[in-house]
Amino acid sequence: MKKVSIIYWSCGGNIEALANTMADGAREQGAEVSVKHVADATLEDVLEADSIAFGSPAVDATKIEQEEMKPFLDQLQNYRDVNINKNCILFATYGWIEDTFMKLWKDEMSSYGFNVIGDLTIKDSPTKTQANIIKQLGKKLVN
Ligand SMILES: Cc1cc2nc3c(=O)[nH]c(=O)nc-3n(C[C@H](O)[C@H](O)[C@H](O)COP(=O)(O)O)c2cc1C
Repeated sequence: MKKVSIIYWSCGGNIEALANTMADGAREQGAEVSVKHVADATLEDVLEADSIAFGSPAVDATKIEQEEMKPFLDQLQNYRDVNINKNCILFATYGWIEDTFMKLWKDEMSSYGFNVIGDLTIKDSPTKTQANIIKQLGKKLVN
């Protein structure tokens, strides 16, 4: 059974809801799925997963959440050999400006060795169509 980890930061619940919808998609494909707020996540959650998703809101035009998510992800650059080519999906929400933060985030995770196979950026909470897209991305993590 494929092990999928979904690690996110959320304060208002938008990202948390996306994480849970993505998990539903991955479970429908038969994966063993762990969904954790980054404050509860460990390095093993990343290193032992077959594929991984990270979710964060934008906290300015160029940055994901900086107090917990960014430091957690920064440690992963030391485990490039373990994570090399591990499939990874990034999902994000923003309130008023989208700008370049997702592109920068994708480049960073690719430089840590991850194979970024998908990403989604939406304004606050998802429409039905966007919720379906995030579910499909959950399935993609398993295939
Ligand atoms: C500290 C902080 C700073 C934010 N700064 C921005 C910003 O510069 N641009 C933007 O579009 N949204 C910004 N947002 C809005 C969040 O990206 C957006 O509301 C997101 O959906 C919140 O996700 P959550 O409900 O999972 O916590 C900010 C939110 C927080 C908490």
